Amino acid sequence: MPELTLTQNPTHTRHGSNIGQPLTRREGVLKVTGEARYAADNHPDGLLHAVLAVSSIARGRVSFLDVDAAKRHPGVVEVMTPSNRPLLAEDPDAKVHPFMFRMELLQNDQVRYANQTIAVVIAETLEAATEGAALLAPRYETLPARIGLDAGDSFVPPAVGVGNPSEMRRGDVEAGLAAASTRIEATYETAAQYHNAMEPHAIVAAWDGDRLSIDTPSQGLAMAQGRIAGLFGIAPANIHIRSPYLGGGFGSKGLISGPQVLGILAAKMVGKPVKLVLSRQQMYGPVGHRSASHQTLRLGIDGDNRLTAIDHRAKVATSSFDDFYEPAADASHTLYAAPAIATSHSAVRVDTGTPLFMRAPGEATGSLALESAIDEAAFACGMDPLAFRLTNYAEVEPITGKPFSSKALRECYTKGAERFGWSKRPLAPRSMRNDAGLLVGWGLGTATFPALMFQAEARAVIRNDGKGAVEIGAHDMGQGAWTALAQIAADALGLDLDQMEFKSGTSDLPDAGIAGGSAHTATAGMAIHDAGATVIKKLADLATSDERSPLFGAGNAGVAARGGRLSRRDDDTRGESFGDILTRAGLTEIDARGKGTANPAAQAAYAMHAHGAVFAEVKVDPDLGQIRVTRMVGAFACGRVINPRMVRSQFHGGMIWGLSFALHEEAITDRRSGRILNANLSEYHVPVNADVPSLEALMIDEHDPHVNTLGIKGVGEIGITGSAGAVANAVWHATGVRPRRFPIRIEEMIQS
Ligand code: MOS
Repeated sequence: MPELTLTQNPTHTRHGSNIGQPLTRREGVLKVTGEARYAADNHPDGLLHAVLAVSSIARGRVSFLDVDAAKRHPGVVEVMTPSNRPLLAEDPDAKVHPFMFRMELLQNDQVRYANQTIAVVIAETLEAATEGAALLAPRYETLPARIGLDAGDSFVPPAVGVGNPSEMRRGDVEAGLAAASTRIEATYETAAQYHNAMEPHAIVAAWDGDRLSIDTPSQGLAMAQGRIAGLFGIAPANIHIRSPYLGGGFGSKGLISGPQVLGILAAKMVGKPVKLVLSRQQMYGPVGHRSASHQTLRLGIDGDNRLTAIDHRAKVATSSFDDFYEPAADASHTLYAAPAIATSHSAVRVDTGTPLFMRAPGEATGSLALESAIDEAAFACGMDPLAFRLTNYAEVEPITGKPFSSKALRECYTKGAERFGWSKRPLAPRSMRNDAGLLVGWGLGTATFPALMFQAEARAVIRNDGKGAVEIGAHDMGQGAWTALAQIAADALGLDLDQMEFKSGTSDLPDAGIAGGSAHTATAGMAIHDAGATVIKKLADLATSDERSPLFGAGNAGVAARGGRLSRRDDDTRGESFGDILTRAGLTEIDARGKGTANPAAQAAYAMHAHGAVFAEVKVDPDLGQIRVTRMVGAFACGRVINPRMVRSQFHGGMIWGLSFALHEEAITDRRSGRILNANLSEYHVPVNADVPSLEALMIDEHDPHVNTLGIKGVGEIGITGSAGAVANAVWHATGVRPRRFPIRIEEMIQS
């Protein structure tokens, strides 16, 4: 790995206040110059190439593979099929805990979805492996594919998302609806979406006896290590994973996937290093996706324009063989202060890969429906949608009754509205046109995402040359985690960024937990903060108990670390350098470990969420139905901002995904064959530059004293929530047509 410099120019050196600085990405230059080495860029000596052969049917069994034809190809070394693949220590269909998802590792000849692996061809070159895979010419015994939310009997899932109850209620919804003077009932449909990280899942695996060395992108190194250890029956410590750079993950790299394990199996089979990279098409199946949803909302509103009831029912899909349920209805738990709320989920099993975590799982899907319904309710009450939200947003979390640890939503609404110019919005739809005759509409969506924390550890070191280091196996998917975490590390150690090393991205470093749930900066950051505070305390103990130190007798509480020195809080001039303290004590270095985890007492007492408000402008061609988002303003309150440049970029990314959710993304699965018809980036639409308007993300100051010592909430996923609804509501305001099916289609606009 090339050397990473922590600072790119001198203005990036800040004494004791690295947090809050808009530093550029530490690895930015390496990335834009092509120096950053992603997993698939590794070419160990003797490397062979593996290519997956995948199923073209969605259900049935493989009855024949022409392995001989593939093996006759001059470049092909081996063909791995269910009949010859190396044994595993664990059944890939075992489910020891709910977050261990089943994999297709050639355990039998069954096919459970299209694009499932049915063989792996290993060859001298990528071309030979690809040709070998094509020569397999599989035959199948095909069963009818079950596709779509009406494909089978529906059932109540055992749990949704990460173990949330499938149904929750507070108060009497039917009574609330009966007492309402205005009622809204509407069903919204959202499409299946697939993670389309720029970097596909890739692995370079090499065995040395029972030791395994892997290059692969991972959002959760320790979990990947544990899962691989279980499957291969080796100690986690025998597995070394390098994951310095990820070209996006979006949740699909949170758990090790079947194809990655197949790369390891292939390397084991041939006794040589093997590289396996998924094609874009092969990403549509084995690495997770977001289920389609049908969501029905019923709202009751009384004569004072206050919500009396929210009923949010979601129907989602899971695979035929495993359980993950998009917790879409849970979006109605926290935002609006109805005295009665009920949320429930039902599900159907279909012949696709198992859906999994995908950026704001549940919140993105559910808030689009909720924000659309709230908008419908506001209009039915003759109210401005912002005024309606200001009347109805929750002061305490409705579903739990807990106070919020902090909530700056009102400020998000008012500052966002002011910046956008919302006060000029006419109430009636289809009442604004621009000079070119395009219909113009303005919409609003509320954003919210829980402030989560998982478990992380870090190690901090101070050396007698006065420099320091922080070690943590953190994950940078491109969001800038390494930069933000290094800023936290520098402040924790009382060093300038260029006086410390930040080591990250490999599995031999302390476990940083998972980079997901928008919780990485808070969790890993708190581990770093804790490790830093402990090592500084050790250093202070050395100095204040040493008669030769100018700090003798100052006591820990009276000492501060800054610029590589400890000094008395009451007299800055009395102090000494870290190096002098260690040298006099005869130590080359001093270290400490720290932990980052949620505070259970605070979690029990408070509902912890980030909040925001997104305003969107669309222009719709009245003849062609073409929709263009022309302007978006988001205002977000997400606790302490560690690096405003990175945070703004996260908000922008989220807002673009929201736009994409409303207007672009849809995986289309053929109901007869069960094949995904647009498993590529030309027909699965994601926004390109021309689709993305002027974006503005305002950061609203928020001091949350309860979430964690640093006051950090997540910023990664909240931008999607709110944004999709804002676009949908703007389309309604432009056209008078209420979008109920997403992505919104041109033909629905033309019918207006
Ligand atoms: Mo995520 S879906 O928390 O990467």
